[in-house]
Amino acid sequence: MDRTAAGRQAASRGGLGPRGRGLFGRLLEGLRGAPAQKQEAVSIAIASGKGGTGKSFLATSLAVLLHRAGRRTVLVDCDFGLACDHLLLGVKPSMTLQQLLAGQCTLDQVLVTSPCGPRLLPGASGVRRMATPTDKDLLAFSRELGTLAAGEDVLLLDLGAGIAPATVLSMLGADWIVLVTQPEIAALVDAYAVVKCVAQMQQNARFLVVVNRVGTPGRGELAFQRLTEVARQHVGVELHYLGEIPDDDAVMQHRLGQLPLVASEPEAPTSVALLALVARLEQICSGLRPREVAGDAGIEARFRQHRLFL
Ligand SMILES: Nc1ncnc2c1ncn2[C@@H]1O[C@H](COP(=O)(O)OP(=O)(O)OP(=O)(O)O)[C@@H](O)[C@H]1O
Ligand SMILES: [Mg+2]
Repeated sequence: MDRTAAGRQAASRGGLGPRGRGLFGRLLEGLRGAPAQKQEAVSIAIASGKGGTGKSFLATSLAVLLHRAGRRTVLVDCDFGLACDHLLLGVKPSMTLQQLLAGQCTLDQVLVTSPCGPRLLPGASGVRRMATPTDKDLLAFSRELGTLAAGEDVLLLDLGAGIAPATVLSMLGADWIVLVTQPEIAALVDAYAVVKCVAQMQQNARFLVVVNRVGTPGRGELAFQRLTEVARQHVGVELHYLGEIPDDDAVMQHRLGQLPLVASEPEAPTSVALLALVARLEQICSGLRPREVAGDAGIEARFRQHRLFL
């Protein structure tokens, strides 16, 4: 259809022709102000269906390895009410997300630098009110995430297990979702439930799968094949495989105050597997470097928009 025909068709619908729409659109844009571009960190939510699959272990290990690879990294403990990343990273925070969201402290006051380097925004532990954040909390949280993302390379969000509203919101708001599962059927079924739930709200959500606590090398990929097949057939979502982590007693035996395994035993098979995950993550997620986003497409805006549909 040529421009004149398009104009006639629009006029017959009572709308503006292309020229009118163009002028009108530009005028509106001028009034609203075109969304400015800004630099923003890559955000990665670490999630699972079943609890205890190893999200916090993975999140803290990735934070250390990314920091060592020269990425400005902040780990945000989004396990609302049951946070534990500070213990795994060996820090004793005096303030947490609870005080930040209540406006009792600033982002700079609550961020702590862990002994291995990455910074942590600690969550509250054993605080029932934080387990069900209010809309006001979520708005404040989205603002803080926007501010954080503006100055970092990578934001890691360590989530609680399952599909509580604030957890799903964090998955929808992030650029990538790393789904941590285990080879057994109960964990795979719950991982699929998360994919289904998120895909219902955002069909193009991007999932990467890590299979943790693998007893026999290669079993992780087999488990992934089953999961991705079901996700493709039933919800039309394509999952990407990030890799497997061995079942390792050294992880269980980690003591409070000890450095994370990737720092204390960098040559151990589990640390090597985690390093391979980081390399793959870099490949898939455009080098894990900040990129330009429009002002209305950043993490803060996505959190604000998605929270309306929870
Ligand atoms: N690869 C592994 N080998 C052995 N033990 C592991 C491994 N990964 C995690 N664990 C152990 O599993 C338990 C749960 O790990 P973690 O706290 O990281 O899970 P989570 O998914 O964050 O749990 P939650 O759902 O409660 O937040 C911990 O005791 C941890 O030491
Ligand atoms: Mg955890």
